[in-house]
Amino acid sequence: MAEHTNTIKHVASPLARQTLLDGDLTRPVAGRRPIRLLPWLQVVKIGGRSIMDRGADAILPIVDELRKILPEHRLLILTGAGIRARHLYGVGLDLGLPVGSLAPLAASEAGQNGHILASLLAPDGVSYVEHPTIASQLAIHLAAARAVVGSAFPPYHHHEFPTSRLPYHRADTGAFLLADALGAAGLTIVEDVDGVYTADPKADGEQAQWIRETSAAELAKQAGPLPFDPALLEVMATARHLEHIQIVNGLVPGRLTAALRGEHVGTIIHSGANPR
Ligand SMILES: Nc1ncnc2c1ncn2[C@@H]1O[C@H](COP(=O)(O)OP(=O)(O)OP(=O)(O)O)[C@@H](O)[C@H]1O
Ligand SMILES: [Mg+2]
Repeated sequence: MAEHTNTIKHVASPLARQTLLDGDLTRPVAGRRPIRLLPWLQVVKIGGRSIMDRGADAILPIVDELRKILPEHRLLILTGAGIRARHLYGVGLDLGLPVGSLAPLAASEAGQNGHILASLLAPDGVSYVEHPTIASQLAIHLAAARAVVGSAFPPYHHHEFPTSRLPYHRADTGAFLLADALGAAGLTIVEDVDGVYTADPKADGEQAQWIRETSAAELAKQAGPLPFDPALLEVMATARHLEHIQIVNGLVPGRLTAALRGEHVGTIIHSGANPR
């Protein structure tokens, strides 16, 4: 007669009997630093308004710089949205569109700038890739090419937080979230000014003082505008990997190249990530 044995396999899980709402219980399991998925990756965010909207005069020198530096790095190049998104926000807000409708439209404007940049770098094997590809197939794309280009907007789209009428998480925030989630080696944000100042250098030229090095926490206390989304400072506070970012002037030849080589040529902003 056959013997019946109990072959049910119990799956042991350290969180099986715990509520996920109690930080004291989840911290020993979920509080550890995650692995770096692409520790060799350099992420570069190219400003939509500051670089792409200027056309050939600003774009071609940057393309040339990127092309020359491809042998040294593997790059995820992300583009901001620029003037077309500002126009889109104006029309959309006038029509009363919710923020979750505006966010994917603005993201697609950022994507258009990405397509332009990727077309110019196509002879070097660079293509534009969509968010799902960045999320799950970046490693294979970067095994085949030295760089890919994508939209810097985070893919919140219709799920954008309804805390503001304008999308709250825009290109700088998206670039940081991606770079930190991938455990990238660095994030360089390319603007048309030398970095962060105490005030907008174009509006308050005399008074604005250049800041060489600061932290996201310090900048959060500064009144007045910044050359990136305010939400960037919030996501930097909870960073897991990226200890700092650098804002550089893409209109000055050589600055992006130097920043990617680890030189301090713009404003360095430290995040809340703990060094190893
Ligand atoms: N505190 C500040 N320090 C430096 N620049 C500032 C500051 N405040 C405002 N600015 C302005 O921000 C401008 C950059 O604008 P913005 O960040 O909107 O462009 P962008 O990054 O190219 O746009 P996008 O988000 O479309 O990529 C600079 O040219 C500068 O005049
Ligand atoms: Mg900016």
